[in-house]
Amino acid sequence: MSTPTQGRLHVSFRPSDRAHQALETLPGPVTCAADPSGQTRAELLSDVRGAAALVCLLTDRVDAELLDAAGPSLRIVANMAVGHDNIDVAACAARGITVTNTPGVLDEATADLAFALLLATSRRVVEADAFVRSGEPWSWRPDLFVGLDVSSGATLGIVGLGRIGLAMARRARAFDMRIVATPSRSAGEEAARLGIETLPLPDLLVTSDVVSLHCPLTPETRHLIGAEELRQMGPGSVLVNTARGPIVDEAALAAALADGTIGAAGLDVFEDEPAVHPDLLALPNVVLLPHIGSAGRATRDRMAMLAIDNARAVLAGEPAPTPVHP
Ligand code: DGY
Repeated sequence: MSTPTQGRLHVSFRPSDRAHQALETLPGPVTCAADPSGQTRAELLSDVRGAAALVCLLTDRVDAELLDAAGPSLRIVANMAVGHDNIDVAACAARGITVTNTPGVLDEATADLAFALLLATSRRVVEADAFVRSGEPWSWRPDLFVGLDVSSGATLGIVGLGRIGLAMARRARAFDMRIVATPSRSAGEEAARLGIETLPLPDLLVTSDVVSLHCPLTPETRHLIGAEELRQMGPGSVLVNTARGPIVDEAALAAALADGTIGAAGLDVFEDEPAVHPDLLALPNVVLLPHIGSAGRATRDRMAMLAIDNARAVLAGEPAPTPVHP
């Protein structure tokens, strides 16, 4: 079990009450930021100095500068997110610092939101809501806000068939969609049970009515979806992104939505978050959300608790439950 000599744990945001209670059970000193949305870079660089553990957010950039500021005491960086593109994992490894993330606890919440975006964009829910609120006179008519029939044989293309991609596939199966996905090493039996067909990306783009992105952001997936891929998707098709913004070339997407190259998009993440490409803001056929994929109450608690547990374990000299391998 833990010893009181293990060094200070710094949390770069104000934790929820439940997470705070968990922190109080730790034997070593804990410091927490006051703001639930996190710290400025300057605050974090100052507060991390001398810490043995850092529990941080996906908005915290953990790079050589931050590691230098922390100094040699730092042993673990526990990200409260499954995505860890904000962390220079190689730089951490070179200094013997463990990096952890929060896989498995946010799959259902994120897939719920991705499916909400799929339905909202396919059936033009947000556009239609704005229309009713506008006060413009209307009555039922055959061509009012006509969109994509989701459960009459529409095809969902999943790019990145990991845990969240599979959770998305389970929802699509319940809606009787045909499901195709890019090749995955981990999907296995469940993919077969859900009847998922594997296709290379270009074929998936041509085949799918809705393309939903669930891959991590890596150098290989940056701008995976650009002008050419959007052209392959074709008119009437829908793009959903709940993964990471830079996977999509946002300027190319805005142009494709404006000129009808594709039909609609649902975005929970942005290329230069929290900035949103100004052309997207002006378009009616895109639904824009502020990165709330995992924002279920219980999910957020589970994410914080897992991050804290990773930090606790490493400080106690135990293996981290969910390490990120460089
Ligand atoms: C993650 O965990 O990477 C998500 O983006 C947070 O919602």
